[in-house]
Amino acid sequence: QVSWKLADHPTLPKGKTLALIVLDGWGEYKPDEYNCIHVAQTPTMDSLKQGAPEKWRLIRAHGKAVGLPTEDDMGNSEVGHNALGAGRIFAQGAKLVDIALASGKIYEGEGFKYISECFEKGTLHLIGLLSDGGVHSRLDQLQLLLKGASERGAKRIRVHILTDGRDVLDGSSVAFVETLESDLAKLRENGVDARIASGGGRMYVTMDRYENDWDVVKRGWDAQVRGEAPHKFANAVEAVKKLRENANDQYLPPFVIVDENEKAVGPIEDGDAVVTFNFRADRMVMLAKALEHQDFDKFDRVKVPKIRYAGMLQYDGELKLPGHYLVSPPEIDRTSGEYLVHNGVRTFACSETVKFGHVTFFWNGNRSGYFNPEMEEYAEIPSDVGITFNVQPKMKALEIGEKARDAILSRKFDQVRVNIPNGDMVGHTGDIQATVVACKAADEAVKMIIDAIEQVGGIYVVTADHGNAEDMVKRNKSGQPLYDKSGKLQILTSHTCQPVPIAIGGPGLAAGVRFRNDVPDGGLANVAATVMNLHGYVAPNDYEPTLIEVVNN
Ligand code: 3PG
Ligand code: CO
Repeated sequence: QVSWKLADHPTLPKGKTLALIVLDGWGEYKPDEYNCIHVAQTPTMDSLKQGAPEKWRLIRAHGKAVGLPTEDDMGNSEVGHNALGAGRIFAQGAKLVDIALASGKIYEGEGFKYISECFEKGTLHLIGLLSDGGVHSRLDQLQLLLKGASERGAKRIRVHILTDGRDVLDGSSVAFVETLESDLAKLRENGVDARIASGGGRMYVTMDRYENDWDVVKRGWDAQVRGEAPHKFANAVEAVKKLRENANDQYLPPFVIVDENEKAVGPIEDGDAVVTFNFRADRMVMLAKALEHQDFDKFDRVKVPKIRYAGMLQYDGELKLPGHYLVSPPEIDRTSGEYLVHNGVRTFACSETVKFGHVTFFWNGNRSGYFNPEMEEYAEIPSDVGITFNVQPKMKALEIGEKARDAILSRKFDQVRVNIPNGDMVGHTGDIQATVVACKAADEAVKMIIDAIEQVGGIYVVTADHGNAEDMVKRNKSGQPLYDKSGKLQILTSHTCQPVPIAIGGPGLAAGVRFRNDVPDGGLANVAATVMNLHGYVAPNDYEPTLIEVVNN
């Protein structure tokens, strides 16, 4: 039985409106021409930085500080928002899958047993992101799963790949496909009929999120399940090389691999098993619904084979989606949102579609829905659909700012929480000029929200979930930009391992509140206790320590 009542903070008052602003993809890095935040005009964030060290500092947002396997793992929005919302560090999907594969426990669980009953007569289909980015999936995990499944009876395997170029360098997909092809060739030598069956770029095929654009999932469904796509190839390396002539890895159109009679080699049929091998939830939930829900109506599936489906993890704890999974997800319980609702803190959360689930679903420990609809309101601003965000780098930043401003001025909420996506979503396109515009727009949205906080005498907390826009090139160990063989600058579309800023302020911030200097390694997980303090409460004992202290002047 959880005791939800939080102790009163000894000195800090309750009842101040608090704006909690998460800038997505906004890290701190040396100022040079590839640091879009530095290049952009960001007067609001610049002025907050003037408050260092008492009102501005850096916190860790990557690696072990957010539950990832190693310090080389860049941060990402899932683990970042989980840490921000939950106030504790949980071993994340990437790590839990590593452990389950290393111990072999993955093959003893209910999920694997469930799918393995199809191995005798059916095909095992593996669908997921093919890269070593470690954000949604990892190639080495796929390799182990291929080996493990074939050793345990899978005789016919089809892999449906989604090319990356977003968590890894654009162009790297060719080498990943070559590696996978050579693994599958080895399996074939051992008598397993294993092949790549279909593919496409992650942003154009399958991996949409938060129901932004079902056409993305449909394109994948047609290729994976029906064996139909506009492009047909005899081999996947050739497919990716050819399609890259007109698109980057993340946007490759769907293709299917066909035999000498032009017949798709691996559509999904009755009696087959399907595993989605991404561990991260957001971009697998929509496909999981299409695979699992009987009454699915988001697009015409045309063919609905009777399959046994398991996710690498269970992606949504509230919806229990999917019902079968290979590895149990992190049990992120007692999040700050749930505590605050129990203690009477009325909450408003807002972002545009592409990041909406970040400040709701991820924030609340991978749970969809409200804890208490009477205490919470979640507002989603529809994202632009069918474009890459370098075309519209301002995205919906101002609309998010306006919604937050109105929520603050309404005085109906104690916490107004937003995610401002621009630095991240535009940073991922690798378009430096557009990312500069994006950072400026994000800064303007911050100003709008802080101005509203000034009007109501409230408090603001401005932070970020991980780095992205502050560094747009691949670098060597000493920080020099790297060029490819043809002398072209290697653009970094991915996140970074940089720390992120956190700033506090506003007329409602009690005198004497400042950042402590005895949590030098503080990270995203320390933010929840900090915010609870600013709402007038002491955080639960097992939360990571608060970043602030109150000194008597
Ligand atoms: C994506 O899904 O867009 C990227 O892989 C990671 O970006 P995010 O963690 O910022 O959402
Ligand atoms: Co991102």
